[in-house]
Amino acid sequence: MPVTEPVLCHRIPTPPWGDPADRHLVTYDEYVKSGGYQALKMALDMKPAEIVDAVKESQLRGRGGAGFPCGLKWTFLPEPDGGRRYLAVNCDEAEPGTFKDRLLCDFDPHLVLEGIAITCHACRLDTAYFFIRGEYHHQAETVQRAIDEAYEAGIFGNKKGILGKGDLSIECYLHRGAGAYICGEETGLLEAVEGKRGWPRVKPPFPAVSGLFGRPTIVNNVETLAAVTPIVLNGAEWFTKMGCDSSIGGPPSYGPKLMGVSGHVNKPGVYEVDLGIPLRKLVDDFAGGMRGGKAYKGAIAGGVSMGILGPDQFDAEMDFDIGRKYDVMGLGTACPTIFDEDTDMVAVARNIARFFKNESCGQCTPCREGAQWIYKLLCRIESGEATSKDLDLLLEIAGSMGIMPGTTICGLADGNNWAVRTIVNKYRSEFESRVKPYFVPVTMGAG
Ligand SMILES: Cc1cc2nc3c(=O)[nH]c(=O)nc-3n(C[C@H](O)[C@H](O)[C@H](O)COP(=O)(O)O)c2cc1C
Ligand code: SF4
Repeated sequence: MPVTEPVLCHRIPTPPWGDPADRHLVTYDEYVKSGGYQALKMALDMKPAEIVDAVKESQLRGRGGAGFPCGLKWTFLPEPDGGRRYLAVNCDEAEPGTFKDRLLCDFDPHLVLEGIAITCHACRLDTAYFFIRGEYHHQAETVQRAIDEAYEAGIFGNKKGILGKGDLSIECYLHRGAGAYICGEETGLLEAVEGKRGWPRVKPPFPAVSGLFGRPTIVNNVETLAAVTPIVLNGAEWFTKMGCDSSIGGPPSYGPKLMGVSGHVNKPGVYEVDLGIPLRKLVDDFAGGMRGGKAYKGAIAGGVSMGILGPDQFDAEMDFDIGRKYDVMGLGTACPTIFDEDTDMVAVARNIARFFKNESCGQCTPCREGAQWIYKLLCRIESGEATSKDLDLLLEIAGSMGIMPGTTICGLADGNNWAVRTIVNKYRSEFESRVKPYFVPVTMGAG
């Protein structure tokens, strides 16, 4: 399927986002006037299983980083047993270079709340925790105001059912994080909501079976939940007409996606485009082209944890095939950071390594210790004190950390692994020019 022009179905304004006074659809009245909460009304006339089926048919994949099929995840929930069931809304958004969920909170909070109410109805969840990044002070206020309005409108907290219909009453709480990246990992988030240190849990059990307070829990990203609303309104087929099929026989990448572009471009910002758009088109047609007319050198694919697209990968299609086709971990949040020809890639790697060293929660030795070593080695390479052997050691340490090599509890270490390895491998000559040759010490034999 060809990439089409942007489909602003979420009605996100493109940057510059300008004066907060220009915001629209922020209040309940504005949202309702524009057709808001129609999808919820339609959903309440549907059986929960019909909504789950529609989301499965749309093949909506999670927008939080892993791209897991949303409808399929919902089917992992056990049957209701009369006890509490939770929705954990992931708005931690601490991945460097990622700032798309923030726009949804700023400009369209009721779209997300409508998605929350529909998801709760579809999955029979009675309590939603909206976990928001600690640094999002302004967004927290906007979302809290919207939640209060939804309570007043009888969407939440209504003992007579959602909008007075059915037998489900939903409570929705805003929970502010304290500024740790690891609380974006789904089980770290659950620990944080429970009031504990944000340490990821060993899985299984998965949250759908045993999540918040040991009860069934769905964890979804803010943008995923926002996408549920127009899917119910317009149907699954409408959604599958946007985006693209896989070119390598994998699952498709349907729907529009918010892509936050930052770095050396003229118009950094969040753009809503079809999945599958080539990175070059995203930069040239939406983000105003390369800053100062400089040449493209590389791009972090979608948050630093995904690794880097090299100098010859500017035409990479921004879809869920990207990992297998371009040697990065995946699409991640689809928020690329662009580097121009003047960028020092050793400094980029050192900067990213510093982030992971600071954000490792410390539970797993390979992640905790490995992140420190990687950072130290990159500092040595950058300052010209390292030898070629340190470069090999760097790759060996990075390659051994993560869930994929089977050495850690969560994917933070894989992010460090992929970021460092892809930068070193794709810009190897730049690293080699900074290290001294390594001479094997000659030891004299006895006698
Ligand atoms: C270290 C780490 C940080 C993460 N941070 C976020 C985040 O900020 N927001 C998010 O939605 N998902 C984040 N994720 C992914 C979540 O674990 C989870 O897959 C996601 O919230 C599921 O929602 P989705 O299926 O709707 O994408 C992170 C994962 C890891 C390993
Ligand atoms: S991989 Fe790192 S961040 Fe994840 S649980 Fe282990 S130590 Fe913590």
